[in-house]
Amino acid sequence: MNSAVRSITRMAIYCGCKVYLIYEGYEGMIEGGDFIKEATWNTVSDIIQQGGTIIGSARSSEFRTREGRLKAATNLINRGIGRLVCIGGDGSLTGANTFRLEWTDLVQELVRTDRVTPAMAKKIPYIQIVGLVGSIDNDFCGTDMTIGTDSALQRIISSIDAVVATAQSHQRAFVIEVMGRHCGYLALVAALASEADFCFIPEWPAPENWRDVLCDKLSQMRSEGQRLNIIIVAEGAIDRDGKPITAEDVKTAVKNKLKYDTRVTILGHVQRGGAPSAFDRLLGCRMGAEAVFALMEMTEESEPCVISIDGNVMVRVPLTKCVERTQMVQKAMADKDWDTAVALRGRS
Ligand code: F6P
Repeated sequence: MNSAVRSITRMAIYCGCKVYLIYEGYEGMIEGGDFIKEATWNTVSDIIQQGGTIIGSARSSEFRTREGRLKAATNLINRGIGRLVCIGGDGSLTGANTFRLEWTDLVQELVRTDRVTPAMAKKIPYIQIVGLVGSIDNDFCGTDMTIGTDSALQRIISSIDAVVATAQSHQRAFVIEVMGRHCGYLALVAALASEADFCFIPEWPAPENWRDVLCDKLSQMRSEGQRLNIIIVAEGAIDRDGKPITAEDVKTAVKNKLKYDTRVTILGHVQRGGAPSAFDRLLGCRMGAEAVFALMEMTEESEPCVISIDGNVMVRVPLTKCVERTQMVQKAMADKDWDTAVALRGRS
């Protein structure tokens, strides 16, 4: 995300814009003061190699209220801010769009209640937004990759490679849990890239006899001379009844049936930190620059967009459509309609 923050800041300054960074997400937008600071070229020096985000991130319940959005609008108007790049998941982007849609109404109320002057309000007749998607889960419809996914994947693969040394030497089975509460992308591609024997993901719930299927596969691999087994379990893995399958469940199944020396490694939040991969740095750079170009071209009538990567090209896709589709996937998952979820996740 830092790469995107850097790129947006510098490209916008290069194009002659005044740039503000809003710290701590919508909380900072509501709070104002030092949470909204003008950025210079140097504010974003030396951040591309850092994980996380230097501007912070916060879930804001206040932004879901009209009063919260009135405060946020006051802070933007008083600084003359009319264009926003919002980096987040579907929740943050939906929030930004709600804000955009009610802008005129919010401004009228602020003028009526003397919270902003008519002169200041007149300078920001509308607000425009562009979204960038930051999520290690790669769970957003409309883009091939979200910012952070590749870095998380690198971390997962190097961790599995490290575990393989022990597994190989001691002829062990390792069950590795990776993130992805609702999306199995990380688990699936990590399994492919690490030559794992088996993988459990939320979108492909395991059949009732999964223990037998798994153990048959593991013992077949051992009979072919393999000294170890690697099994990847997504955090949100489930069976066909929707019951969670945990790494411990898998370990118990392998130990009970095959008596293999089996260990569990839960990677947890290490997947979300550390230095970002080169791919993610470039993705943030390219998406950030395109976000600035998009915002500068947008008029009051323009549809808000998300900057996506399609193939290897930066494209602008309608924000509302992507958010709606992402939410349809979430609903299909909740309804246990996995085929629909997978079909919707594919390219539009
Ligand atoms: O970013 C999404 C995600 O990585 C999920 O895969 C995971 O379940 C969740 O975040 C963990 O979030 P938290 O840090 O709030 O526990």
